[in-house]
Amino acid sequence: MKFKSFVAIVSTLFAANGMLGAVPAETPAKPKVLVAYFSRTGEQYSVGNITEGNTAIIAKMIAAKTGGDLFEIKVAKDNYPKGYTALTEYAKEEKQKKARPEIVGKVAKFAQYDTVFIGYPNWWGDMPMPVYTFLESYDFADKNVVPFCTHEGSGMGGTENNVKNAAKGGKALKGLAIYGHTAQKERAEAEKKVSQWLKEIGF
Ligand SMILES: Cc1cc2nc3c(=O)[nH]c(=O)nc-3n(C[C@H](O)[C@H](O)[C@H](O)COP(=O)(O)O)c2cc1C
Repeated sequence: MKFKSFVAIVSTLFAANGMLGAVPAETPAKPKVLVAYFSRTGEQYSVGNITEGNTAIIAKMIAAKTGGDLFEIKVAKDNYPKGYTALTEYAKEEKQKKARPEIVGKVAKFAQYDTVFIGYPNWWGDMPMPVYTFLESYDFADKNVVPFCTHEGSGMGGTENNVKNAAKGGKALKGLAIYGHTAQKERAEAEKKVSQWLKEIGF
């Protein structure tokens, strides 16, 4: 064998070996998603007595579509009336007092999440006060924060800004407002809206 051919064969072998031994490119880890929400059953506007809250329905859709973990924001002392009118009065007082009702439990390993969806009903143009308790309890630095709300006409109200201010350090993404009665009674329509929005914000 001529020296030139020998060199060619050896270098081909080295190259092949190099390829075989190459470290495979790391597949990027799937972003971890948390879907935290506050929602009420009982008598609600335009839907009557419900056993699953409007916001809870949307939260579960988001979790199913993103592979996210669910966390329900529940108050330690649940004195919220089950009747709609009484609830509106109670909530109005809580808002006026800027109450921060204690909530039950903590999100396990909160630091692992890249994106936190935060869901709530629009109450008097704002979030229910326990949602503030929740947002003010965690460090959102380096996390995406994505609000979604159910309502009966006011949309997000001023809540996108309020979420931004309360979730310190978080990067706010575009939120979703959806009618409570759509979530409750028009599931296919709700699914469509949720999917469209998730696509828009990159999920
Ligand atoms: C205390 C209270 C205040 C509300 N205020 C508003 C409001 O200002 N604007 C609006 O569009 N809907 C308002 N609603 C309607 C709720 O946002 C709507 O029914 C929502 O879907 C309820 O969600 P949930 O079942 O997850 O609690 C209010 C409802 C309650 C109980």
